[in-house]
Amino acid sequence: MENIPVVMIIFGGSGDLAHRKLYPALFNLYQKGLIHDHFSVIGTARRPWSHEYLQEQVVEAIKESNSSFDEKDAKEFASHFYYQSHDVTDVDHYIALKELATKLDKKYHAEGNRIFYMAMAPRFFGTIATHINDQKLVGSGFNRLVIEKPFGHDLASAEKLNQEISESFAEDSVYRIDHYLGKEMVQNIMPLRMTNPIVNNIWCKKYIANMQVTLAESLGVGTRGGYYETSGALRDMVQNHIFQIITLLAMPEPKALDSDHIHEAKQELLDSLVIPTPEMVKQHFSRGQYLASDDEVEYLKADQVAPDSKVETFVAGEVNFKKGPVAGVPIYFRTGKKMKDKVSRIDIVLHHMNNLYGNAHSNNISIIIDPRSEIFFTINGKKITTEGLRRENLSYKFSKEEMAQVPDGYERLLHDVFVADRTNFTHWSELKQYWKFVDAVEAAWQDENKDIKQLEQYPSGEFGTESSNHIFEKDTEHWIYR
Ligand code: BG6
Repeated sequence: MENIPVVMIIFGGSGDLAHRKLYPALFNLYQKGLIHDHFSVIGTARRPWSHEYLQEQVVEAIKESNSSFDEKDAKEFASHFYYQSHDVTDVDHYIALKELATKLDKKYHAEGNRIFYMAMAPRFFGTIATHINDQKLVGSGFNRLVIEKPFGHDLASAEKLNQEISESFAEDSVYRIDHYLGKEMVQNIMPLRMTNPIVNNIWCKKYIANMQVTLAESLGVGTRGGYYETSGALRDMVQNHIFQIITLLAMPEPKALDSDHIHEAKQELLDSLVIPTPEMVKQHFSRGQYLASDDEVEYLKADQVAPDSKVETFVAGEVNFKKGPVAGVPIYFRTGKKMKDKVSRIDIVLHHMNNLYGNAHSNNISIIIDPRSEIFFTINGKKITTEGLRRENLSYKFSKEEMAQVPDGYERLLHDVFVADRTNFTHWSELKQYWKFVDAVEAAWQDENKDIKQLEQYPSGEFGTESSNHIFEKDTEHWIYR
């Protein structure tokens, strides 16, 4: 791998995301040689840390994430880290940051290249972008901005944020991270569709009855109640992860496999996204809040959650497109906290064959994203000794050794930022469409909220709200994963 010269500035350098994900991912890229002698990282945040303290934290983060921990290597890597205590609203701090970046640029021969990473409370994204511009923090080489979700709270605020960002960064240097796009099996959706005639030829309404995306989590909101109250499951999971998965499932095949063509194909699809009416939301969506489990209080009693909150911890719904290979195929999704398992999966349900073997099950194609990586087809055949049909799975899976090689999503995506590959990042034009959809659902819910005292509640450890079993277009449809 090449050795890319760069000074990286991480806003939120003392935070949880940096510790759990970014520092270990950067270390792996360092070990692979993508960044090595000519890189430096400035961690910046409110806390009054020293360079040394940050360096200790970086070593600690690597130790926690890495089973084959080599202290010498980790310390050498951490010696490239510097800390700048920072109040994001104070102009002077940007001046100090600029001086430090300039100094480190010289010291490490970083050639004026800068990566800015916004990994802190989203309410500061706009302010930081504006100050980066005003104080001319950008370097003389390449300048890239990596930005975490949520990108805005609705379409209007996302547009405002995009405006603020675009004053310093052109769209082609903005990397909106969606860590689901770094997952092995999410990256496998296009090859599965495009290299297998058995899949490719049935990818249409004639053969596919519906698609189902399930992103279930077994944990509750824990200590994140404050953030969650401003978000809810729709904004936290659907607006980004679920929509990106659905887009990959439903987009037309790109004309080439480069970033521009892939985003073009996504855009073509998303221009035909059906924005739900209040009536559609009523019939084909369900939301609710979890009840207590042995180890966690119910959502309404969680820390920093309003006792009369109407924020959903579970949502199920339907997405439709007017164009693309699966136009007219209902795509159902559901996601929530405190569900049975931690599992992310896609189930493609094929129409039943209607013939002499009338009672055969449908074939399904399932893509398991987490916790294991697998694709399997359900296949019917005859029973050996008795009459009737049996059903088996044909499976595409990985060995333990192969799984161990799968890089973490963040490592993959950071790698892509360094080599300027924007394929697996969210383009502004995609985001806009996702927000239009989410805004429409939110508006319908706000209206419904006037007439209800409390959201539907669901038991912890199961599959979400009871009403989510009745959102389907047809009585014969049901959730495959139960
Ligand atoms: C994040 C959400 O984007 O994704 C979290 O903010 C959620 O609430 C997480 O827990 C799930 O990601 P993963 O990779 O663990 O499925």
